[in-house]
Amino acid sequence: MSTPTPTPRSRILGTGHYAPARVVTNVDLEKVVDTSDAWITDRTGIRRRHLAADGETTSDMAAAAARHALEAAGLSVADLDMIIVGTISGDTPVPSCAVHVQQKLGAEEIPAFDISAACAGFLYGMTIADQFIATGTATCVLVIGVELLSRLVNWEDRTTCVLFGDGAGAVVLGPARGDGRGILSTCLFSDGALSTSLIVPAGGTAEPATPEGLAGKRNKVHMVGQDIFRSAIKNLTSASTLALKASGLRSAELDWVVAHQANLRIITQVSARLGFPLEKFVLNIEEYGNTSSASIPIALDEAVRDGRIQPNQSVLLCALGAGLSWGAALVRM
Ligand code: ACO
Repeated sequence: MSTPTPTPRSRILGTGHYAPARVVTNVDLEKVVDTSDAWITDRTGIRRRHLAADGETTSDMAAAAARHALEAAGLSVADLDMIIVGTISGDTPVPSCAVHVQQKLGAEEIPAFDISAACAGFLYGMTIADQFIATGTATCVLVIGVELLSRLVNWEDRTTCVLFGDGAGAVVLGPARGDGRGILSTCLFSDGALSTSLIVPAGGTAEPATPEGLAGKRNKVHMVGQDIFRSAIKNLTSASTLALKASGLRSAELDWVVAHQANLRIITQVSARLGFPLEKFVLNIEEYGNTSSASIPIALDEAVRDGRIQPNQSVLLCALGAGLSWGAALVRM
């Protein structure tokens, strides 16, 4: 028996993204750490990544993506009544990245806040926006996924520094119009038992930054890649299956999957487990690497702008990252 398709409460009005101009190839990284283009390409699918310029900030990138999304939606900053930013690499520990974005956009005194869910940050933000719109508390919400991880990785650690890139993606959400288009389902999960699988150990209250900690790079990303790899395949598959079921759609009715771009091997295995062809996955890991919370909105915007994703098509979004935190959503565009 199939689940009835729920009536969407919110829908995507516009998408946008920003990628820094500076491109660093795998061959460039061969001069930085003991690695090779062949290893990075074979093990991850990454060939290049865009890295922020000196002086460029997380909120600069987020504001650029936001303007792009507002333009696509035909709206202005004055139309916004909430700003949600998914990020783990904001400009400052305090205050939020969202208020820096608010100030740069010139937005009014509206709520602006961050979500810390690493690579799942955009999905968490979009789900929260959907809830605010569903209750009628908000009517126009800007959701941004942005990361500047090149300043959070240890450039002497080949197991992490080759993986990440910088960038931002954004969507503007507004109330659904009753035509079936919009967010059909969302599901979110976290498992703190795996909190040390990807962690920045120092710089918080548990381990305040000290000269010794900084010298030992404890203020940089530490990752147990294989734990996350295994968990990603399992949990992205189960969350996607759940979101699909809750949407009332059959997998044959699915047009596209926009999965978090962490590793092409993870995406390939999720594709096989879902029984959904890889050609229907929007892939850009080759160009950007892992941009954490920015990865889904960047890929979504690219596929909307180049015409792959068309109005009324159904798109599955799924992501997993540090936390571990993960989730999935089904959207009729
Ligand atoms: N270049 C060359 N060799 C390398 C590199 C490199 N850049 N990095 C690791 N190696 C070596 C290792 O030292 C190891 O060598 P050894 O066999 O002599 O010990 C060998 O390659 C294999 O290393 P593994 O870690 O087993 O490689 P694996 O196939 O697991 O790939 C990877 C590593 C790419 C990190 C993979 O585990 C992965 O993608 N994990 C998931 C990452 C992820 O999703 N992160 C979470 C999201 S990020 C966020 O939340 C912000």
